[in-house]
Amino acid sequence: MVLLDGKSLSNKIKAKVKEDVLELQSSKGITPGLAVVLVGNDAASATYVKMKSKSCNEAGIYSVVHEMPESISQDSILKTIEMMNQNPNIDGILVQLPLPSHVDTTVILEAIDPKKDVDGFHPFNVGRVRAGLDGFIPATPYGVMELLKEYDIDVKGKDVCVVGASNIVGKPLATLMLNANATVDICHIYTKDLKAHTSKADIVCVGTGVVGLIKEDMIKDGAIVIDIGINRLEDGRIVGDVDYDKVAQKCSYITPVPGGVGPMTIAMLLVNTVKAAQKRVG
Ligand code: GUN
Repeated sequence: MVLLDGKSLSNKIKAKVKEDVLELQSSKGITPGLAVVLVGNDAASATYVKMKSKSCNEAGIYSVVHEMPESISQDSILKTIEMMNQNPNIDGILVQLPLPSHVDTTVILEAIDPKKDVDGFHPFNVGRVRAGLDGFIPATPYGVMELLKEYDIDVKGKDVCVVGASNIVGKPLATLMLNANATVDICHIYTKDLKAHTSKADIVCVGTGVVGLIKEDMIKDGAIVIDIGINRLEDGRIVGDVDYDKVAQKCSYITPVPGGVGPMTIAMLLVNTVKAAQKRVG
């Protein structure tokens, strides 16, 4: 069994981003900028935003975090986004999800200039990526594809089972797999017999937030398992959605949690931010 080491690949990618930033500064005189909107007090969201901001700083990307209280009005968020859409120092805008229930997430995401939509959540980019055109690819599924590429795993013709159909992970990952010519099954909470789908797949990708969802009897021998879950247990440990110790013994490749897909998400956000800056200056 081979570990898919996202920590190590993310460091390589971040080093390349740093070089690209220096190149943009010396040849075009600009520093890429990322603006992050964080609404409310969700502890996990605050941690992710801190990590994103720290990684930006390490790569030489300018970053600013707009922290807003849980009670903020939708209009105030929209005004902040509009300001960032107009700000020439900002190349990427990211609204950390989830948003409070009184805010319409679709309205917020559609307010972001698609050219600055480094999360790839605006329907413009969702549609472009779906059609196989150039557009911002959401960081987590982008990271999964880069991790597979690093280990020379070609998904063409493979049976891929994506478990979890969120707009952030499952749907875009299924799209990228399909665009790479995999045969894709998408499972979700209404799937009648999850095991029937996972146990015939060459590659199983899971992002549901359900601890221990994928057990060893649901995976075929030699399968590749990509665990996109990040769950904090009561004792503080971080685990994925896969019953790791047992499943790892059956598969050919597996991502650890932590140290698998998680670090790739941040690296690919930086890649998208630099891409936005490069496009802006032509
Ligand atoms: N919430 C969980 N994952 C993400 C992500 O990749 N981007 C944003 N904006 N919010 C998230």
